[in-house]
Amino acid sequence: MTGNWNDVKSTAVLWMDEAGKMLKESLSRSLHVEQKSNPNDLVTEMDIKIERFLKERIENTFPSHRILGEEETGANIKTTDGVLWIIDPIDGTTNFVHQKFNFAISVAVVENGVGKVGIIYNVMQDEWFTAVEGEGAFLNERRLPAATEVDLPEAIIGLNGRWLARETRRDEQSLHTMVRKSRSVRSYGSAAIELAYVACGRLDSYISFHLSPWDYAAGLVMLKEVGIIVTDFKGKPLPLLTWSPLLAARPHLHDQLSLYVHDHRGF
Ligand code: IPD
Ligand code: CA
Ligand code: CA
Repeated sequence: MTGNWNDVKSTAVLWMDEAGKMLKESLSRSLHVEQKSNPNDLVTEMDIKIERFLKERIENTFPSHRILGEEETGANIKTTDGVLWIIDPIDGTTNFVHQKFNFAISVAVVENGVGKVGIIYNVMQDEWFTAVEGEGAFLNERRLPAATEVDLPEAIIGLNGRWLARETRRDEQSLHTMVRKSRSVRSYGSAAIELAYVACGRLDSYISFHLSPWDYAAGLVMLKEVGIIVTDFKGKPLPLLTWSPLLAARPHLHDQLSLYVHDHRGF
């Protein structure tokens, strides 16, 4: 596409603002909650509604673009050719249901596999994390500074505590050591928000053992702009069409943390 990615970003922000209002308004009603892959994997009618809302807007405005959404869009997509939107209509659905707080809409626009636009909207805090490739990352109107280095003993790591409780993992002991050596660990329950927090320096790292492209695609665009390294546990770039482990951290810390996380099978 030869278009202006800033225009694409501004258009998507308008849609996401409207979607955010729909989500806030829905919190005063009782939600219909269903389980997906397991009892802790929740979906509500609002996840579907927001995905359909964004899909319709994209299709009407950019008919040649393709869409990969968590709930029901793009399961047949096998390549990243052309322009691809990667959407998580609600990241942090468990928070949306239980806490009514700390959930986000995450939208990335990728061209031929290269992230061009990333937007993470933390709805209840009304925080907009946005980035356009090569133009820096922003929290609302504020440009985010390039990440500075930090060592593990001073680092706050974003990590879901559940990953520490799996007795079959062969890196269980090293993960415990990593946590003990860090300054502290936080868990917000939304991968998109946690990646945005790494971008703005509230977290020094975010680690997950299993994320989908819609969880991290927007974060990838943002983190690249501030010099944060994001890879799988083997140091490879993340795929955009399949799940992956994820290690995001400032460069030196990324090297340090790589020693503690290992690829795993059958968790
Ligand atoms: C989930 C959240 C959560 C992460 C899970 C994701 P969802 O996304 O990002 O923080 O630990 O792996 O699946 O289901 O709320 O969109
Ligand atoms: Ca998600
Ligand atoms: Ca979701």
